[in-house]
Amino acid sequence: MKKNTEDIAARIEQLRNTIDEHNRRYYIDNQPVISDFEFDILINELQTLEKKYPVFKSDTSPTVRVGSDLSSSGAQNEFSQKLHKYPMLSLSNTYDKEELIAFNERVVKIAGVDVEYVCELKIDGSAISLTYHKGELKDAVTRGDGEKGDIVTENILSTRSVPRFLKGYGYPDEFEIRGEIFMPWSAFDRLNKSREENEEQLFANPRNAAAGSLKLLDSTLVKERGLEAILYHYISDENRFSNHSEALEAAKSWGLPVSGYTKICKSIEEVFNFLDLWDIERKKLPYPTDGVVIKVNNLQLQSKLGYTAKSPRWATAYKFKAERALTKLVSIDYQVGRTGAITPVANLEPVLLSGTIVKRASLHNLDQIELLDIHMNDYVYVEKGGEIIPKITGVELSKRDITSQKPLFPESCPDCGTTLTRDESEARHYCPNFISCPTQLKASLLHFCSRKAMNILAGDATIEQLYNKGFVRNISDFYKLTTEELLQLDGWKERSAERFLKSISDSVSAPFHKVLFSLGIRHVGETTAKSLASHFETIDNLANASKDELLQVDDVGAKLAESICGYFAGDASKKIILELKEAGLQFSQQRIAANTKSELLLNQIIVISGNFSVSRDEIKKLIEEHSGKNSGSVSSKTSFLLAGEEPGPSKIQKAKSLGIKILNEEEFMKLIENN
Ligand code: IVH
Repeated sequence: MKKNTEDIAARIEQLRNTIDEHNRRYYIDNQPVISDFEFDILINELQTLEKKYPVFKSDTSPTVRVGSDLSSSGAQNEFSQKLHKYPMLSLSNTYDKEELIAFNERVVKIAGVDVEYVCELKIDGSAISLTYHKGELKDAVTRGDGEKGDIVTENILSTRSVPRFLKGYGYPDEFEIRGEIFMPWSAFDRLNKSREENEEQLFANPRNAAAGSLKLLDSTLVKERGLEAILYHYISDENRFSNHSEALEAAKSWGLPVSGYTKICKSIEEVFNFLDLWDIERKKLPYPTDGVVIKVNNLQLQSKLGYTAKSPRWATAYKFKAERALTKLVSIDYQVGRTGAITPVANLEPVLLSGTIVKRASLHNLDQIELLDIHMNDYVYVEKGGEIIPKITGVELSKRDITSQKPLFPESCPDCGTTLTRDESEARHYCPNFISCPTQLKASLLHFCSRKAMNILAGDATIEQLYNKGFVRNISDFYKLTTEELLQLDGWKERSAERFLKSISDSVSAPFHKVLFSLGIRHVGETTAKSLASHFETIDNLANASKDELLQVDDVGAKLAESICGYFAGDASKKIILELKEAGLQFSQQRIAANTKSELLLNQIIVISGNFSVSRDEIKKLIEEHSGKNSGSVSSKTSFLLAGEEPGPSKIQKAKSLGIKILNEEEFMKLIENN
């Protein structure tokens, strides 16, 4: 008997710890490793045990506390916090219609009459509470731990849907309205695509992406994330409405975003019809939903029903099960990415999931493999996180072969054999050999040529050929290529070689921030490259910057600073930069002078020749005012020749032979004026 009690206590303790850990991953890291369904199973088991063995009840159990999204408690928190005037609770939930019948019976028993419900879609985002004072948004606060939350007003105002000022009339002097901040599928796909390009950790689903975006410190970045809001819970000290649905109607008339898919249901059967309809229809919506919330419409009855410690008794959520499939894990590939990140990818026995056949799923990193406790040949559950990546969310232990082993994460790069290093903050392994690891090298050559980088006309196939022939082994080799070499490549003709070489010589005038982005320094994406270029102005300043100096730049954190220092410390990078400098690439950003009118001609080298309607000095001044550079002689680096009356014939001839544009005075003036 004693042993049994000890076992129960131990299981409860274990469940609480596991749930706390998953809550942390969900609400704080925004990187959950199990599905909501699996999480709810753990909560259910704990609830059942606590009910059966009340001696183990605890006020700090995750069954009576809402999961906290607070970034940190106390002094280091980046956001100020606010106490909620009314606690911000969660909802009870179920996947089972029988439990909805029981919910209805409990409500009807207390009401004494049939009850009207409002059914709403359960939006899968992050909860927010807005306070409006005299028609103006006073603050927006996250749920936090239910008692206090982070004030994220600026970030909320950068969503398209939350108005700073209300319209219409008749709103109380002060009221709160709560709802969900979410990320539509399209914005989620866009965000993950760009994170994939920059080899940043992908968001598992739009909910995590929305919650993570809400906590960004720079609201202009939040704006780019495309968050939206739907509000669903009006709260005020004044009793001006008798029904929840009336309150929502009023909120809509004040310009607040409320759902268009809400229905008043007069019986539990009508509720079921709504559930069945929306389990299908929701897949067509542009944003993620994970269930339906069923609320008592009458506000007096709501008060009578009241609250438990964690959730209202007047509402419950019916959750839709995410579609998942069970299949066998056949093997794991360890893929090397552009910046050396090693991603374990599971090869699965093909299985049909939401209309497509899934054969591979990302396992993210070693931490994830360990948390899921995956063994080779296990049967695993796969779900689609978003539209793009299927992921493994659990293991079917009952089907495990007891002899199966845990996978062995490689110690060295599967591609070049270099010993892997581990970035603890990201739990990722990296191959540090970014100079000559073939996959990294080819990927970095491709990145260098990409449209957003140097815009050189080389795709996968060209890079493969150039690499295999040994013509290009680092990015500076592009500038040494000759027509003769290119003609040795399969299928290449004079014309293709010429076009290719022209794209290389054109790339020389790409502005500094693009060059910086093109270098492929780990974690330096397009936006960071721009910030760094305008902060340091030259590559030498950047290369000599200390970690502390780097941390002064907007959005540069410790990880990025370390990566930049590491890059410039290497002899190989120094050599490449020297060679690129010799090739004429732009390694400085001109300081925008006080007399600058525009950056229209930034990084453009302009040669002038002939007589103009104004003095040549005036023309030079105009070029400088628009951030251009004046040069005396025509070369392949010239952006255009500005030819007045009677230009020098040799300059005209040279420009023509190099295919350089020639503008006359009128065309030049138009160019500047249009700006
Ligand atoms: S009502 C007092 N309505 O789901 C509780 N919640 O899992 C008021 N949610 O914490 C919540 N859509 O963040 C409500 N139409 C909706 C909802 C909704 C999404 C979220 C909300 C809540 C969570 C519970």
